[in-house]
Amino acid sequence: MKHIQIINGPNLNLLGEREPSIYGNKSFNGFFEELKKQYPDVKLEYFQSNNEGEIIDKLQEIGFSADGIILNAGAYTHTSIAIADAIRSIQSPVIEVHISNVFQRESFRHHSFLSEVCKGCIIGFGLNSYRLALEALLLI
Ligand code: DQA
Repeated sequence: MKHIQIINGPNLNLLGEREPSIYGNKSFNGFFEELKKQYPDVKLEYFQSNNEGEIIDKLQEIGFSADGIILNAGAYTHTSIAIADAIRSIQSPVIEVHISNVFQRESFRHHSFLSEVCKGCIIGFGLNSYRLALEALLLI
């Protein structure tokens, strides 16, 4: 059974309540339950933190054993060399995801420190970005 870890960064615990015109009305927990039902043969795990160091700790903890990691680092995407270095340091393939199309938004969201160290990026498909990332990891 493949083990895929989802990691969400800051403010993504507020999905469903936070700026619904950008991020939609659904909570991540509800979406995660749907995803687990859709993929009963995948060991899917979910971790969220608002703290950069905790995201790095999680990447280090599972990054040598998980079959893949789906990472939405939220605003740390645009600022964190430390998360990029953590991705460089581990072995599991990481897919960068974003719910919104960051390229249609403010210019400070156009740069990611993570894209170059990730296996690939899926951006702009709402919560389906996670589903598409999971499909991609199952193909690897
Ligand atoms: C986001 C995009 C980021 O720019 C933002 O800071 C987020 C969410 C997204 O999923 O669209 O927190 O990663």
